[in-house]
Amino acid sequence: MAFTIAIDGPAAAGKGTIGRALAAHFGFAHLDTGLLYRATGRRMLGGLDPIEAAHSLRPEDLEADDLRTPDVSQAASRVAAIPEVRQALLDFQRAFARRAGGAVLDGRDIGTVICPEAEVKLFVTASDAERARRRHIELTGKGHEVTLDEVAQDLRDRDARDSARATAPLKPAEDAVQLDTSSMTIEEATERAIAIVTAAQG
Ligand code: DC
Repeated sequence: MAFTIAIDGPAAAGKGTIGRALAAHFGFAHLDTGLLYRATGRRMLGGLDPIEAAHSLRPEDLEADDLRTPDVSQAASRVAAIPEVRQALLDFQRAFARRAGGAVLDGRDIGTVICPEAEVKLFVTASDAERARRRHIELTGKGHEVTLDEVAQDLRDRDARDSARATAPLKPAEDAVQLDTSSMTIEEATERAIAIVTAAQG
């Protein structure tokens, strides 16, 4: 039976962490849809046309170890504003969302465009300062040399672009449950998300 959990929100709000935890708890498959745009953006930086890059994505493109760098993040946000790129990635995401056994997808347009019929929709947010702090720790922990200010600027640029684009902009679905994780630990945010999903399962 299909059961979809759609998680949307701005960059570095905790969507991925919550998504992985929900998938592990409920035994669902998880798709970080940002990876599709990151892999497409990375291939564009390598010289490919972005629409062609999206149409010919291969599973191994999603495993490149430099998909989280600031350059690739910005490229992902830029290719994500191209309607033909989004269209090329649509069917794969929709099929994943409705696969048997349950699925968790996180991104920007999961509850609004990819799976408006999702059984649970979460819109995960956190303050700008907290998101920058978390992403900075993550990146420096992986050996990237970036300052807190650069990370904050990257998040601001991407959120502005992701929210302002004409096709599938970042915004909460009308029936999404908002979860502000600014002052929550990972455990608290995860517990809260599990409680919301459990309540929806009835
Ligand atoms: O979730 P993320 O930060 O890894 O996503 C990278 C970029 O991809 C983000 O800035 C916007 C884009 N994106 C999107 O437009 N739609 C999605 N469902 C997921 C990501």
